[in-house]
Amino acid sequence: MKTNYILSYVVFAIVISFFTACEYEFVEPKKPAPIVPPGDTISFSLNIVPIWSNSSKCTSCHGNGGTAPNLTASAAYSSITSMGLIDQATPENSLIYKYPSPATGTHNWKKYTADEAAAILLWIEDGAKNN
Ligand code: HEC
Repeated sequence: MKTNYILSYVVFAIVISFFTACEYEFVEPKKPAPIVPPGDTISFSLNIVPIWSNSSKCTSCHGNGGTAPNLTASAAYSSITSMGLIDQATPENSLIYKYPSPATGTHNWKKYTADEAAAILLWIEDGAKNN
């Protein structure tokens, strides 16, 4: 029968289109580059200062002539050390880490991301060097 023949052709075409139409590429989700690449030594100027100054995240308020501590590249180290914001004996108590930390911090102006907080803590545990 002619209609049957046409019908089975249509069904066949639909079935085939199911297998061919939905082609997709698997796109690897892009992860942001880690703040401190594995195996690298943490560097104050390369890894830590940019956390504060990129997009003026912290320096919009903690800049030259702004609220202390001054977190701009040239002033940050002396500012946070002279204000006693680093606790070498108990790194997680350091105010520069604890106060703006994402989960428990009470600095409601702005917080670190989890990655940023982890990098700050790592830097303090590593001796809070001006490197
Ligand atoms: C919108 C303005 C603003 C931004 C942005 C901001 N802060 Fe603050 N920050 C303040 C103010 C105002 C104070 C002082 C009052 C207070 O402690 O809440 C302060 C206080 C602090 C203190 C405590 C200093 C002390 O005397 O104990 C630290 C540490 C700090 N900020 C770190 C940061 C960091 C790190 C960032 C970026 C993640 C940041 N702030 C972004 C406004 C800001």
